[in-house]
Amino acid sequence: MNADELKAQVARAALAHVPEGAVIGVGTGSTVNHFIDALATVAGRIAGAVSSSEASSERLRRHGITVFETTAVERLPVYVDGADEIDARGYMIKGGGAALTREKIVADLADRFVCIADHSKLVDVLGRYPLPVEVIAMAAPQVARRFAEQGGTATLRRNGEGLPLLTDNGHPILDVRGLVIADPPRLEEEINQWPGVVTCGIFARHKASLCLLGTPEGVRTLTF
Ligand code: A5P
Repeated sequence: MNADELKAQVARAALAHVPEGAVIGVGTGSTVNHFIDALATVAGRIAGAVSSSEASSERLRRHGITVFETTAVERLPVYVDGADEIDARGYMIKGGGAALTREKIVADLADRFVCIADHSKLVDVLGRYPLPVEVIAMAAPQVARRFAEQGGTATLRRNGEGLPLLTDNGHPILDVRGLVIADPPRLEEEINQWPGVVTCGIFARHKASLCLLGTPEGVRTLTF
């Protein structure tokens, strides 16, 4: 099975975690795209979804699934999303698709975070994948200097035209290479204090409740 087939496999497995009649949280990315397509086959089973990006909302609507504003819901039973890296404790790096702020907002509304990922995402220590950090533009150089003090190298993410990529919220993203994130909760808390940081792509406070991991031998379920 190739990576895409593994993603499709875990996306289908995630349907078992979707409660009947509920409004659920839906994330962003190629694995979630498979989940949205799988959800479409059982669309009548849910009342709708809250999504973490314009791209996912559009895909949900195309499948006839009602999309609610985040502001219209108080709680969600479950949030289903991918990850760029996940460790054995359920801590994650997210934001490769630039949706990290909305992902954290929707994850915060949810009782459970179901992570869906292919096995290449499981790591011993977070940090090989560049850590995405959404920042207010005027703070970007100072935040980059702070990462340098931590041993990291921060670069502004660019779009296909070479311009700074802006998130759905209109902010740039720094991608930080060279960090070894041995204590994700501590580093997340520290970065969150830096002026101008909108969202740090470490999901420790909002870690996975369980992870459905796609492997050539089938879906492995990790619970945290
Ligand atoms: C989006 O901003 C990310 O957090 C995604 O959840 C993450 O990049 C995983 O994406 P894929 O499912 O495309 O690997």
